[in-house]
Amino acid sequence: MLTVIGLSAFVIYATVRSFVRSAYYVADYHYLTPFYSPCLSESCVPGSSHFGTPFPELPMWIPLAFLTLPFLLGFRLTCYYYRKAYYRSIWLSPPACAVAEPHTKYTGETRLPLIIQNSHRYFFYAAVVISVINSYDVIVSFHAKDGGFGLGLGNVILVVNVVLLWVYTVSCHSCRHVTGGRLKHFSKHPVRYWIWTQVSKLNTRHMQFAWITLGTLVLTDFYIMLVASNTISDLRFVG
Ligand code: FES
Repeated sequence: MLTVIGLSAFVIYATVRSFVRSAYYVADYHYLTPFYSPCLSESCVPGSSHFGTPFPELPMWIPLAFLTLPFLLGFRLTCYYYRKAYYRSIWLSPPACAVAEPHTKYTGETRLPLIIQNSHRYFFYAAVVISVINSYDVIVSFHAKDGGFGLGLGNVILVVNVVLLWVYTVSCHSCRHVTGGRLKHFSKHPVRYWIWTQVSKLNTRHMQFAWITLGTLVLTDFYIMLVASNTISDLRFVG
């Protein structure tokens, strides 16, 4: 029940925020919420397009981050942790160890629609690219209004969010396979073995990172929404 509530709350919040097209960018401090990154169309508010505007104005039913949202959604939906969670709490196949399921037959991930879960490794590659884009947004946010260096609470929140997004992405099971999979002799690949060892350590906490990053994404977006809508002002340390 908690899993259903947690995941549903995130999906509803993210969907609503992705479509409202307001309070997603703080022009004074260059804060851009991850839900609108990258903003690549002429519909984006001035300054929010860190990578230019190669696309024309978009109708309201297309989210401004249309290029990345499907991949982010696909990455989360096919994540091994989320699978476990929603197989048990929503799909009920299997509901738990040694618990009879309502489906007539257990087919695992060998047939549609669950066979699509195999696409996870490709979503992982896309997630790495998106994390790079988010990191660039964070670097841009350190530019103050007058062009110099600026630092505020928004920067701190953006940095924490992007670091945790990287940790979640790197702790992915596909990343573990990319770094150390298919090796017959670890001793012959010391560098890959070392990286695989570090990724494996993070991987043991993948569930926690999955939930933490859902929370930090919402928190980051919510803070930027409050500042962008002038409900609160950003706590500034420099600039
Ligand atoms: Fe969770 Fe890849 S297994 S993101």
